[in-house]
Amino acid sequence: MSINKEVKRITTHTLLKMKEASEKISMITAYDYSFARIFDAAGIDVILVGDSASNVMAGHETTLPITLDQMIYHASSVVRGVERSLVVVDLPFGSYQGNSKEALNSAIRIMKESGGHAVKMEGGAEVADGVKRIVDTGIPVMGHLGLTPQSIYKFGTYTVRAKEQAEAEKLHKDSLLLQECGCFAIVLEKIPATLAKTVSENLTIPTIGIGAGGACDGQVLVMHDMLGINTEFKPRFLRQYLNLNEQITQAVQHYIKDIKDKDFPNDKEQY
Ligand code: KIV
Repeated sequence: MSINKEVKRITTHTLLKMKEASEKISMITAYDYSFARIFDAAGIDVILVGDSASNVMAGHETTLPITLDQMIYHASSVVRGVERSLVVVDLPFGSYQGNSKEALNSAIRIMKESGGHAVKMEGGAEVADGVKRIVDTGIPVMGHLGLTPQSIYKFGTYTVRAKEQAEAEKLHKDSLLLQECGCFAIVLEKIPATLAKTVSENLTIPTIGIGAGGACDGQVLVMHDMLGINTEFKPRFLRQYLNLNEQITQAVQHYIKDIKDKDFPNDKEQY
């Protein structure tokens, strides 16, 4: 999409200002041009090209299989649909955990090959070196704490994280460390609302919650969940704004019927 000089783009600086002004930040996932274009025009602040693409686009059980090349493909499609929103791209599993040089190389590939505006990484102290090196190179990094789906085989379950004091304390310390390393925001996934409130109050950078309560500085949902495309996933935190699955099914059944009944195409729908 060509640059429209009239449009004031959302930047990482805008998000900081929004936190300071107590204006909540809206974020949604997208993985392709057409939906990104709709979400951007609707006024969403941040579009996350999540590695949840592995689940909702490719049908994998976890986020682990998606590759850096596949993330770049999704992200570049999203970037072409966006004029205003900030586009954040997940670094996929295996592309940054090895060492900080590997992390930097992966982040550089995302920025150069997709045109995304920032990257997101899961983890705290374990990835701090990589975060710092990427930020020092001039690439904005969003952190991600709490339920970190790339570690699902370590957790063994998708239940709420950091309910115990030791894990809550580590999460709090990690959030401060990520801020110190230069992260511009942190996603808090599936943690108690009271913990998310404390963390949000103790950080100067914004927190974006998913299943982390209303005290976070912003909220994110996976588009397939909030639009009701994926109807099997019904966690307590999810608000479903549409039932697209039902609407699409009805539309396609109507189309099939019209073909079978020889109603489509009619005289006006042909040359
Ligand atoms: O990959 C993703 O969609 C995410 C969100 C759930 C925050 O990381």
